[in-house]
Amino acid sequence: MDNPPPTPIVDVQVDAADVEAALRGDVRDGLTAQPKDLPPKWFYDHAGSVLFDEITRLEEYYPTRAERQILLRESDAVIEIVGADTFVELGAGTSDKTRALLDSAVAHGHLQRFIPFDVSETFLRDSCNKLAQEYPSLTIHGVAGDFDRHIPLIPSGGRRLVAMLGGTIGNYAPVARAHFLDTLAATMHTGDHLLLGTDLVKDRSRLVDAYDDASGVTAAFNKNVLAVINGHLGADFDLQRFDHVARWDDQAEWIEMHLRSQESHNVLIPSLGLDIGFEEGETIRTEISAKFRQDGVERELASAGLEMVAWYTDDDGDFGVSLSRR
Ligand code: AVJ
Repeated sequence: MDNPPPTPIVDVQVDAADVEAALRGDVRDGLTAQPKDLPPKWFYDHAGSVLFDEITRLEEYYPTRAERQILLRESDAVIEIVGADTFVELGAGTSDKTRALLDSAVAHGHLQRFIPFDVSETFLRDSCNKLAQEYPSLTIHGVAGDFDRHIPLIPSGGRRLVAMLGGTIGNYAPVARAHFLDTLAATMHTGDHLLLGTDLVKDRSRLVDAYDDASGVTAAFNKNVLAVINGHLGADFDLQRFDHVARWDDQAEWIEMHLRSQESHNVLIPSLGLDIGFEEGETIRTEISAKFRQDGVERELASAGLEMVAWYTDDDGDFGVSLSRR
């Protein structure tokens, strides 16, 4: 018999009650505002995470494939530059594409610890157990937390590589993004590195298709946020009365996803004492997904005190991964 793998550590910074309270606040604020909006983090309950996983395999959704190509090609180069003993992944999910980096880092011989950080505790636990089996030489130390509150609680020490992949940074609007990068950079020490995945500006039709696929998976993912609100807050959203909308904003250079009410109607959220009116055609903005250019990324990193030391793209120039240093 093989030895059992070392048990992973999982710190839980968010418990179910916290999550519920944050959801209540976001729904109250967002649906009583004009125009209405909801933060994209509420897409990702179990059903939403499964739908997102399906999105990453859609023909139209190029970012996952493009970033995987970059990581498979460049992970040795990245690990050579950073020589880290600790690797932190923000928004780890199943750490699927990250395995290329982990493999290079383990082969390189310096890596001791992997810290996946994710909002979904159940996904994180499964993933930590698998990682502990696959990488018996590493200490696996998961942290379940919220990007907006718990970055400073990630275990410190060691020479660190922090990765935020997939283009997740694009869910922040510019001011919130600058604040997030400042907070993150403040937790890094001189010589620590950030590996950041950013989807790039490109032809409008390819962008819109990536967020409005022919098979309707992204539409189901978008509407799932209403099911999450029904399930947790007892609301009576009828998902069939809303249409999925994806638009490219040429000025802001971001994709917006909305849910558009087909007709004038009201939705009750008894646990918040709310009766929300929708006009015909009124929308809830559910996500922005900003697209970047190399010089913009470099400038935003510099504002946070991070110097870009490498920029990698896929063959088609669709996606960028930057490596920067504190
Ligand atoms: C996980 C935030 C990178 O913005 O492309 C996919 C989420 N939304 N399809 C993105 C998403 C619609 C995705 N991120």
